Amino acid sequence: MSIQDLKQAEKLEVKSYFNGMGFDRWNRIYSDSDDVNNVQRNIRIGHQKTVDDVLSWIKEENNIETISFCDAGCGVGSLSIPLAKMGAKSIYASDISAAMITETQQRAKAEDVNMKLLTFNTSDLESLEGSFHTVICLDVFIHYPQEAAEEMVRHLCNLSEQRLIVSFAPYTPFLAILKKIGQLFPGPSKTTRAYTLKEKGIISAANACGFHLIRSKLNKAPFYFSQLIEFKKRIT
Ligand SMILES: C[S@@+](CC[C@H](N)C(=O)[O-])C[C@H]1O[C@@H](n2cnc3c(N)ncnc32)[C@H](O)[C@@H]1O
Repeated sequence: MSIQDLKQAEKLEVKSYFNGMGFDRWNRIYSDSDDVNNVQRNIRIGHQKTVDDVLSWIKEENNIETISFCDAGCGVGSLSIPLAKMGAKSIYASDISAAMITETQQRAKAEDVNMKLLTFNTSDLESLEGSFHTVICLDVFIHYPQEAAEEMVRHLCNLSEQRLIVSFAPYTPFLAILKKIGQLFPGPSKTTRAYTLKEKGIISAANACGFHLIRSKLNKAPFYFSQLIEFKKRIT
């Protein structure tokens, strides 16, 4: 089997996980359901910090009605829905999992969101096309090893006119040890491989596409570690 075949097999595994058991698990984590264990509740708390930071960074600029967004790997719409409620110009919500996209649509309708602002797409990140003011990809790179994640950053930069925001589980020697002893990604989420990434490589990949670092913040909760980075395109 070639490396390409292996990558494809791993992606199919991720897709089927997020259409099945993974959908059920993450749909509960990204909700206010009481049907979560302690680890899942902590992941929920940590993830909400990441989403809240992104929303507050966007609010700072006071021009959301002029901004087109791509929410790459949107999950159940935890970011797309508030962006629509805040009055974004448009949001392209995309995910590899059809179950996630259906859930995002249902949640948006239930929350009375203006559905005209949202476009839904079921596809992997690699197949994303188009041009957006701001591209955001939160907590998806966990499925990408370093080199593939850097390639993905370059791809997302090519889709972005002005800003890229990404978050990922950072590689640190401490987290590497936790991962080794199985505490970082506990329980059945081990059904898909989880990769931690070196921030330096992610920043270099964005720099190579003309995007420079604006800010970087680590969000933590027990069992949740996510480095959130904002890049903007250099004005030439
Ligand atoms: C942990 S969830 C994060 C969801 C969302 N970004 C958020 O922060 O609320 C990861 C999401 O990435 C999606 N995903 C995983 N691999 C993907 C790929 N190669 N292309 C597109 N989406 C992918 C999964 O289906 C899942 O919805």
